[in-house]
Amino acid sequence: MCGIIGYLGNHEASPFLVEALKRLEYRGYDSSGIATINNGVLDRRRAVGKLVNLSDVLVHAPLPGKSGIGHTRWATHGEPSEVNAHPHRAGKVAVVHNGIIENFRELRAELSQKGLVPVSETDTETVAMLTALHIQEGLSPVDAVRKTLDRLEGAFALLFLFDGEEDLMIAARKGSPLAIGHGDGENYVGSDALALGPLTDKITYLEEGDWAVVTRHSITIFDREGNVANREMRRVSLDRTQVDKAGHKHFMAKEIAEQPQVIAEAVKHYLGQSGHSITLPDGGLDFTGIDRLVMVACGTAYYACLTAKYWFEQLARLPVEVDVASEFRYREPPVTEGTLALFVSQSGETADTLAALRYCRDKAERIVSVVNVPESSIARESDLALPILAGTEIGVASTKAFSCQLTVLLILALEAARQKGRISEERLESLLSALRGLPATLGNALETDTMAEALSLELAEAQDILFLGRGLMYPLALEGALKMKEISYIHAEAYASGELKHGPIALIDKHVPVVVMAPRDALFEKTVSNMQEVMARGGRVVLISDHAGLEAAQDGIWRSIEMPMVDPVLTPILYALPAQLMAYHTAVAKGTDVDQPRNLAKSVTVE
Ligand code: F6R
Repeated sequence: MCGIIGYLGNHEASPFLVEALKRLEYRGYDSSGIATINNGVLDRRRAVGKLVNLSDVLVHAPLPGKSGIGHTRWATHGEPSEVNAHPHRAGKVAVVHNGIIENFRELRAELSQKGLVPVSETDTETVAMLTALHIQEGLSPVDAVRKTLDRLEGAFALLFLFDGEEDLMIAARKGSPLAIGHGDGENYVGSDALALGPLTDKITYLEEGDWAVVTRHSITIFDREGNVANREMRRVSLDRTQVDKAGHKHFMAKEIAEQPQVIAEAVKHYLGQSGHSITLPDGGLDFTGIDRLVMVACGTAYYACLTAKYWFEQLARLPVEVDVASEFRYREPPVTEGTLALFVSQSGETADTLAALRYCRDKAERIVSVVNVPESSIARESDLALPILAGTEIGVASTKAFSCQLTVLLILALEAARQKGRISEERLESLLSALRGLPATLGNALETDTMAEALSLELAEAQDILFLGRGLMYPLALEGALKMKEISYIHAEAYASGELKHGPIALIDKHVPVVVMAPRDALFEKTVSNMQEVMARGGRVVLISDHAGLEAAQDGIWRSIEMPMVDPVLTPILYALPAQLMAYHTAVAKGTDVDQPRNLAKSVTVE
């Protein structure tokens, strides 16, 4: 959500800034801009829409200079327009920002009493105006920023550049991540290691409340009290910062195809070389004192939690409460001793999930997170962080992160069941063996791609699509509908199959495809009855099932996708594939922007 980059170096800054913004574009893409200092003079270029528009502007109006800042925006305050695009400028100050300044109206009112009127609708411009005012009153840039930061409420990552200062950037972090990159006679600032990948693998992450004064030869970090702080410099492995489509048309297609490989990594990580026992990192997790689980997340990660609820309850007999983070935190739910609080997040930076974690901090027995980014805020603020090892996910619609989240959550549920003596050794070994075989099964399931593609040409004609599932397939139906709507823009909804007759069945007619996810498990016959109810009303059923399920389903199915057989416990991980493939191909057939769907951004760092 909004990408930030800063460069203080010995080369022209603009090409570096634009290249880094390309890598950050997944965070927001409704406008972008850069500012540089050339011979002491601050100047900027901005453009509405995708980054390519900014590149076009720069062809006609280049921006020289060896220091600069850049931004790619996901609008919060004010429509996407050039005037609202970052960097914002007031007097000698240019600033880029990710997050929300909650008290910006109050600050604006103060500034207007001094006759200072903003030109944009953004909260960010207020930060530039306040800092410029302090400089005008005689403070140095560093002191002006310090004074401004004292006044800001909300969550933000900020990066400042100053007219007349060729060798100075100031970065500040409160609630939104920011990383400093170390170079040789050059230094950089970025929203994440991904942005800094081509520049350096030496990274220091700012901590909550930190701010940093950066020059070409020095980086001085201050903590929230203003004391100089020593923060560790880490080496980030280069493949974590690689961003290419590897021959695929879209990142989403690449990330779907990568699932056998990344799940194999996750399985190997937690089951070790032998594959016969579970090893959790950092001394593991003792479930003996745990009598309840609270799981909190947003979006796709929330559906991973809903799926895991079935596993924890059925396999480990642990009661589980699941909530979306934005509701959980304001509901003020009791979190008692004996409660394990579990947070699931790909980015590890989702503002609502992080806030929910902090709410549980002194209440829960232990705070555990399941994350893809090990340096993220959610990982760092957890007692135990379990990596999902999905690798960088660029497509805004989450795919491989979802299946890796499911894999790790299933392993955790099995470990809980083992420790609590709820599962026999034979059953545990048979599920571990199924997990070991899962990457190969997923590889076979990728062959359903052509079926999904053919079907999607027909789905692309629909106005509405319903997804149905029972038991473990219900959360997956929800995820299937989310994937479909977010990238194809077709209205899609999901219901528990048994709920259909309590209202949604009124929607069924011959125009509405109904995707039913139903492996031949203990609940299959019940789902078949629900399918019959749909078909009796002219509904067009797409059945996703295994060979036995497709054989057993009665005539009248409109279309089907045959999945490999797998232990019913593992079906959500496998059946995620056709859900993703259908959404992907439908979006391609409709010609939408698959990797950067409208209005969305990856990593939602505002409430
Ligand atoms: C949907 C999607 C989102 C995210 C949600 C949480 O495809 O990607 O719904 O799952 O924004 O993000 P993380 O997992 O980063 O906390």
